[in-house]
Amino acid sequence: MKTLERDVQADQRSIALIAEMIHTASLVHDDVIDDASSRRGKHTVNKIWGEKKAVLAGDLILSAASIALARIGNTTVVSILTQVIEDLVRGEFLQLGSKENENERFAHYLEKTFKKTASLIANSCKAVSVLGCPDPAVHEIAYQYGKNVGIAFQLIDDVLDFTSCSDRMGKPTSADLKLGLATGPVLFACQQFPEMNAMIMRRFSLPGDVDRAQQYVLQSDGVQQTTYLAQRYCHEAVREISKLRPSPERDALIQLSEIVLTRDK
Ligand code: FPP
Ligand code: MG
Repeated sequence: MKTLERDVQADQRSIALIAEMIHTASLVHDDVIDDASSRRGKHTVNKIWGEKKAVLAGDLILSAASIALARIGNTTVVSILTQVIEDLVRGEFLQLGSKENENERFAHYLEKTFKKTASLIANSCKAVSVLGCPDPAVHEIAYQYGKNVGIAFQLIDDVLDFTSCSDRMGKPTSADLKLGLATGPVLFACQQFPEMNAMIMRRFSLPGDVDRAQQYVLQSDGVQQTTYLAQRYCHEAVREISKLRPSPERDALIQLSEIVLTRDK
């Protein structure tokens, strides 16, 4: 392998590390916001050291990511990955709000899902492609692949919140309703059971709301419809990545989109 090619690969690996650090920082902050006590089967930072130190720990991880990003020394890559940080924060703000209008609710949910989850994957894929090749068409394919896989990943995460258990997931499940969040399974269930509307509007805040909403979701086909939607996003991701020439790396990305759909934890 030529020196230049090796340098590009080293920078691409750095992007993977930086993406992982931005993700970790956002989760450390998220666990403060959600008051969560477990993550990946372990106690959260906020549970062990308290909220103040958890916020600072998230900031420290983010600053280490920023230093690593500056070291790559590519301004296009810097703006692509800093967009992720803005999207993460805006996504979290979107999640704090809710739409009264039922028709706007799904679009709001998908926008929140893109910003909170898919932007990181889309823009990390794009940044890696920018380092590897000068063709903007390839950058767009990388972005679209990451965006579609990212949305599918979050849709399945929202399904697993209803269908899995805390021990398997290593984090609290049945958590979204308790946090007042109406995710895909709830929004689909609401089409079958319009009486859920009022509960969504008050963010499941009355005694019994969480249990009743859970029952409605499980009686409806909200879980199946959300899974079907995730499959559609994954098909779109595969369609995008299939525009690239065949390679073992392309096969691995196609396989990854299947893992996103079949994971149970
Ligand atoms: C998990 O959500 C949270 C995220 C994917 C992003 C959270 C973003 C912030 C807190 C903004 C701050 C960002 C930075 C970069 C410091 P979840 O609660 O739905 O998932 P969970 O069940 O895994 O907790
Ligand atoms: Mg959380």
